[in-house]
Amino acid sequence: MTTVSSIQTARSARSARSSGTDRCTIVASEEGVPLVTGEHVEYANFDYAASAPCLTPVAEALAEALPRYASVHRGAGHHSQVSTEAYERARRSVARFVGARSRPADAVVFVRGTTDALNLLARSVPEDCTVVVFESEHHAALLPWEHPASRVGHVVRLPLPATPGAAVEAARTALRGAPEGPRLLCVTAASNVTGEIWPVEELVEAAHAEGARVVVDAAQYVPHLPFSLEETGADYVALSAHKLYAPFGSGVLAGRADWLREAVPYLSGGGATRLVTEHDVVWNDLPARHEAGSPNVLGAVALAAACDTLTPDAQGLLHIRESVLLERLRAGLAGIDGVTELTLWGEEHPRVGIVSFTVDGLPAGLLAAALSAEHGIGVRDGLFCAHPLTRHLLPGGHDQAVRASLGVGTTWEHVDRLVGAVADLVAHGPRWEYADCDGRLVPVPDPDRVF
Ligand SMILES: Cc1ncc(COP(=O)(O)O)c(C=O)c1O
Repeated sequence: MTTVSSIQTARSARSARSSGTDRCTIVASEEGVPLVTGEHVEYANFDYAASAPCLTPVAEALAEALPRYASVHRGAGHHSQVSTEAYERARRSVARFVGARSRPADAVVFVRGTTDALNLLARSVPEDCTVVVFESEHHAALLPWEHPASRVGHVVRLPLPATPGAAVEAARTALRGAPEGPRLLCVTAASNVTGEIWPVEELVEAAHAEGARVVVDAAQYVPHLPFSLEETGADYVALSAHKLYAPFGSGVLAGRADWLREAVPYLSGGGATRLVTEHDVVWNDLPARHEAGSPNVLGAVALAAACDTLTPDAQGLLHIRESVLLERLRAGLAGIDGVTELTLWGEEHPRVGIVSFTVDGLPAGLLAAALSAEHGIGVRDGLFCAHPLTRHLLPGGHDQAVRASLGVGTTWEHVDRLVGAVADLVAHGPRWEYADCDGRLVPVPDPDRVF
């Protein structure tokens, strides 16, 4: 029997320390990260919104599956059967996690991630579908509808709404004014730039009243809060495993089966077909129709393990803990001269554990480089693949921002270290030299060069 003792140690698992969340720990390196001074410190990871570290139960599930993984839906051998069963069990776990409806049954299609899921939907909508989308979206939700290979007939891009209520009204008006025919509203549940939570249920209600469907980009929402297709009434949901503590290359598009069942697969290949002759192809039914190629069984197993671990109760408790850390972080940053937090709907608007900010006098790239090299803190800098929104929110004099995002392994000490480091950099500036290397600032000299 395979054990996971080698990948899980008492020190490496950062406990969420809440009853009901005992299994919600992450696998972390014991080595820490090097500073330019030569010291090593525990890594303060504030880049969960990009990719979250691995949950311990995810690593355990993988360790158990690894010795027996084999081809899915293809082989007669024992391991193939075990893998096929694991893959389909994973689909059921994900269906539960996203609150998939049973009548009529929502499709749950394994894909590579949210980008893949939304591109799949863009190629699966009925011809000439109108898609309404806010300018604030992540590029993965903003752009697939405009791709030449998509079946979308008409895209309506809505400007950034001043309030959540204005978002609902703008969507309603746009859908009402859209040409006759199928219509789809695409909306994010939580912004990857500000963490702000969008009024999904109200948008669904407004869209349905206009006869339109709704796809929810839940990439940043589901790592923090429970989401249910059934409860929100949303028609589709897209998510990525690697943001949900299962960083193994899978994701999901779940929702109404009819459009997906009718669509020609956008990936052609083995598994998606039922019959191929010299002249003809008969495509498979769902979900295999949209899962051409050898299925990523380990990715599916990992995602399912995360879904099974992050029960609504566990997520509720984690959210309380995370909210305390987030408020401490935001309050700490707000107390530093020259720091501006990016927000679309104001400081009081509910959000998940993401805060983007600028610091006067410190370019985002330099700040991020110094936080890493001098303090062992990982943040993201740039425009976060949501250029229109981020540019709109940036205060004058800034062309990029820094994003700090929290998750299961974030500790009080990490938060205090980040606030202290930003305050120190504001007061004294970086204590090291930095130079441009392929568009990214790196310490010079760098005693512990990674590349
Ligand atoms: C809100 C949002 N949507 C979509 C994506 C794209 O996810 P992926 O890169 O996993 O396809 C991201 C990634 O950052 C995101 O934050």
